[in-house]
Amino acid sequence: MKQTNLLVCKLFIGALFWLGSVLVNAEDPYMFYTWTVTYGTRSPLGVPQQVILINGQFPGPAIEAVTNNNIVVNLINKLDEPFLITWNGVKQRRTSWQDGVLGTNCPIQPNSNWTYQFQLKDQIGTYTYFASTSLHRASGAFGALNINQRSVITTPYPTPDGDFTLLVSDWFSNMTHKDLRKSLDAGSALPLPDALLINGVSKGLIFTGQQGKTYKFRVSNVGIATSINFRIQNHTMSLIEVEGAHTLQESYESLDVHVGQSMTVLVTLKASVRDYFIVASTRFTKPVLTTTASLRYQGSKNAAYGPLPIGPTYHIHWSMKQARTIRMNLTANAARPNPQGSFHYGTIPINRTLVLANAATLIYGKLRYTVNRISYINPTTPLKLADWYNISGVFDFKTIISTPTTGPAHIGTSVIDVELHEFVEIVFQNDERSIQSWHMDGTSAYAVGYGSGTWNVTMRKRYNLVDAVPRHTFQVYPLSWTTILVSLDNKGMWNLRSQIWSRRYLGQELYVRVWNDEKSLYTEAEPPLNVLYCGKAKRPL
Ligand SMILES: *[C@@H]1O[C@H](CO)[C@@H](O)[C@H](O)[C@H]1NC(C)=O
Ligand SMILES: *[C@@H]1O[C@H](CO)[C@@H](O)[C@H](O)[C@H]1NC(C)=O
Ligand SMILES: *[C@@H]1O[C@H](CO)[C@@H](O)[C@H](O)[C@H]1NC(C)=O
Ligand SMILES: *[C@@H]1O[C@H](CO)[C@@H](O)[C@H](O)[C@H]1NC(C)=O
Ligand SMILES: *[C@@H]1O[C@H](CO)[C@@H](O)[C@H](O)[C@H]1NC(C)=O
Ligand SMILES: *[C@@H]1O[C@H](CO)[C@@H](O)[C@H](O)[C@H]1NC(C)=O
Ligand SMILES: *[C@@H]1O[C@H](CO)[C@@H](O)[C@H](O)[C@H]1NC(C)=O
Repeated sequence: MKQTNLLVCKLFIGALFWLGSVLVNAEDPYMFYTWTVTYGTRSPLGVPQQVILINGQFPGPAIEAVTNNNIVVNLINKLDEPFLITWNGVKQRRTSWQDGVLGTNCPIQPNSNWTYQFQLKDQIGTYTYFASTSLHRASGAFGALNINQRSVITTPYPTPDGDFTLLVSDWFSNMTHKDLRKSLDAGSALPLPDALLINGVSKGLIFTGQQGKTYKFRVSNVGIATSINFRIQNHTMSLIEVEGAHTLQESYESLDVHVGQSMTVLVTLKASVRDYFIVASTRFTKPVLTTTASLRYQGSKNAAYGPLPIGPTYHIHWSMKQARTIRMNLTANAARPNPQGSFHYGTIPINRTLVLANAATLIYGKLRYTVNRISYINPTTPLKLADWYNISGVFDFKTIISTPTTGPAHIGTSVIDVELHEFVEIVFQNDERSIQSWHMDGTSAYAVGYGSGTWNVTMRKRYNLVDAVPRHTFQVYPLSWTTILVSLDNKGMWNLRSQIWSRRYLGQELYVRVWNDEKSLYTEAEPPLNVLYCGKAKRPL
């Protein structure tokens, strides 16, 4: 009797869970897009050059969505090369099938199309999308993905009077993605980009507001190489959100945004009526590249003038200190009406530690970038398909060792196997003199520590185990380490990559396979009906 009750009860809970995860999913609004990707000509630096357009736009169209919206994007590839877009920071819950990287998807061939479908489940904030293949991102094919909170959710800040999106990208004046690739294929590192753009232009961009009002600025670094510093002449910025987490609203005169990162600030127009410079400049580079736009007070008769506000240039410790001030507001709502801090990540026992060390090295006499001595290459069969269909000979779990060791570097297909729900400490060890930017797909992770030198277990004493900010992209300072703590609750094959695109192109990435042997739609979706097959996964399987 008791047994039966228990079973009925379990079935009932199961049904509720199913209703919750499947039906509600279907009831959330759908947003449909058809995007055609082409080459085109633009003159971001005053001279015509080839760029990549989406629906004729550079940057691509912005997606303005609300938490839990279902996004359907039919992508038509009119380039002469295979193409994919990845949704930087979208968690793709239970469905790495939609992640748009070569480890999860066959590329969309020229003159063909493929439809992504995914839900912005429980997410808010400022995100971006960009091409994940073949350095396409160096020529465009990036855009904004803004997720607004549902109307029933109160935010920890007053509703702003307007919302501006700023995509900052570094830019080469006369090299297309193909030229850049040629250089890398020949074994040369890329030169410093020539300029910075904001929303695809290098000058003349104006954001207009009214004196006394407060505006939201969504700032993302969609570049391929350089960290930026962002600031507005005679205005301070109140940081409200970083990659989906509401932060303590500290006031900043300038903020560093590393490659692939996003942050949202509020700016109140408290100064006198005129135009003010909005400035983005590169960090840790020589020379420093600078670009400006304008913040115009309505009624202004004066263009921006005066010296540009000064920003940091090489000051690493300044940046590290600032990074530590970015903390989560533990009493604020996130996408759901419960405080974000209810997840006490600092008290969860760590199941395993990965220490991932990047390096630049020569393999067969050519420049490659490695992680723990392995320089990643994409097999022709996406890892996810190989894993799902038990196709052997595509990857194994022995290629990469999860702590640095000494010895020669190799080319390989690195996949780290982790069990679903493991709580993992990942240390990014950077023994190079350049800044790194690491990104993890399918999740967000608490950036708990930044320090210089070589990490060891005693550094754990320095972690912020209370209110570190969960995010998707993590900077690692020169000759330093960064630690993240992450609960791997999303089954799938997830890309862990350098956001610095030349590094990723030459091998600084790997995949984390989050898995358990329970075959269940509650933990992972089946391949979508339109899944593409390629490599050893060509139909019929
Ligand atoms: C390609 O686009 C057509 C509509 O133009 C659509 O019916 C079809 O499903 C798309 N193909 C894929 C694989 O998504
Ligand atoms: C944190 O969030 C609460 C609740 O929304 C809000 O009232 C408070 O101002 C926020 N604190 C800071 C420092 O941002
Ligand atoms: C780009 O311009 C630089 C000088 O400004 C020149 O050295 C280089 O060869 C040019 N590259 C290409 C691909 O045209
Ligand atoms: C703007 O800031 C500069 C210093 O950066 C200061 O000299 C100037 O007085 C300020 N202007 C206004 C209108 O507040
Ligand atoms: C792959 O292997 C697993 C475990 O051996 C099995 O459960 C699964 O059904 C297999 N998948 C396919 C598509 O054959
Ligand atoms: C992680 O560690 C905890 C505590 O040792 C343990 O209870 C849990 O089963 C482990 N989880 C996994 C997925 O290995
Ligand atoms: C960890 O590193 C610190 C700083 O370099 C050093 O003083 C300490 O001895 C190291 N501890 C261990 C256990 O290796």
